[in-house]
Amino acid sequence: IISRVRARMILDSRGNPTVEVEVVTRGGGFGRAAAPAGASKGKHEALELRDGGKKFGGRGVDRALFNVNHVIAPRITGLDARMQRLIDSIMVDLDGTPNKSRLGANAIVATSLAVAKAAADTAGMPLYRYLGGTGTFVMPVPLMNIINGGAHAGNELSFQEFMIAPVGADSFSEALRIGVEVYQMLKKYLKDKYGASAINVGDEGGYAPPMKSNKEALDALVEAIKLAGYEPGADVVLGIDVAASQFYDAESGTYSVDGHRLSAEELLDYYLVMVDEYPIRSIEDPFYEEDYESFAKLTSKLLGRVLIVGDDLYVTNIGRLVRGIELKATTAALLKVNQVGTLTEALDYAYTAMASNLKVIVSHRSGETEDTTIAHLAVALRAGFIKTGAPARGERTAKYNELLRIEEDCSGECIYPGIRAYQSLHP
Ligand code: PGA
Ligand code: ZN
Repeated sequence: IISRVRARMILDSRGNPTVEVEVVTRGGGFGRAAAPAGASKGKHEALELRDGGKKFGGRGVDRALFNVNHVIAPRITGLDARMQRLIDSIMVDLDGTPNKSRLGANAIVATSLAVAKAAADTAGMPLYRYLGGTGTFVMPVPLMNIINGGAHAGNELSFQEFMIAPVGADSFSEALRIGVEVYQMLKKYLKDKYGASAINVGDEGGYAPPMKSNKEALDALVEAIKLAGYEPGADVVLGIDVAASQFYDAESGTYSVDGHRLSAEELLDYYLVMVDEYPIRSIEDPFYEEDYESFAKLTSKLLGRVLIVGDDLYVTNIGRLVRGIELKATTAALLKVNQVGTLTEALDYAYTAMASNLKVIVSHRSGETEDTTIAHLAVALRAGFIKTGAPARGERTAKYNELLRIEEDCSGECIYPGIRAYQSLHP
């Protein structure tokens, strides 16, 4: 039974205020969770409530804190913390808007996750076990974003994220080690080739080198994998998050890539050449967030070879996901709890995707905190994938380190899927 709900302001990894909530139960359980924040947000995401005005450049969260402490807390205190669906629906109803703009998705998500953690703690279980029940757990393949571009870095790379996925490992900890070795080798490679400023890092801990073309970034990844002693395409595969809405020009209907203006058809051909030249196994948001048709074309061309992932396309919204399933727009769905606001809605989204054989990738945001809930969520869902940045910067390593603890805890009851994570049930 929930006895106390309390919100406070903390800072996120970009030095902006965010909401942290603590929930205490009468059974002695305690849960604490914080809201992350995106930079390249999808336009259909739930709203992050900010105060405006002068303090914190308008990014204050006093109104969101007020909403937790004085609107939500009185309504959920006294309820059983295990009644996640009821508690989440109470918050959705109290808010009453389609995009959670009254109470704020930042207020709601921190509360929703803190309730789940308090319930798990009351039951004396780690969160991944509380949410995931019994049966074999699946440790996620980390999609490690080690070169940052787009809205996450001050360079000219149009694509936002260049990721490595260490699939040639037997455990998560081994995969993490391989990822770290490649990351450190990449540092040396970039420094030798581009000078010391190339190893400054972006928002997600990846390097932000002064590169001009996306191919240069992919070449650097392949070189770093080889220098670290691994085989690209076998031990380590690649992934990209294009975040194409960021460089789409609605007026002309074109994309500006590597200094060229490309139509959707030309961009599609660009991807087809790219996946022939590089061991790319996932492409996220290859087109503008309303262009389901182009997503579907690329998905059908790359079926069984490369996962096409919807992030800004779906924004963890079940209605947008269902449309994508009907149109066969993607083979995977990104999951960010704060894009929708409640754990219940995020779980419904995940199970809907899985029921249609879409892969689910549990993801952080570019603005993060030390909160490690997504590590537990990825394992509980048996999603097979997590996206939580480079193995650097405390808010990113917090998730990786928690996964190391989880793997230790579930040893003998969990597997690391490696390349099998990519295999569709029916391609
Ligand atoms: P964001 O980016 O958190 O800045 O929205 C992450 C992503 O696009 O996957
Ligand atoms: Zn994305």
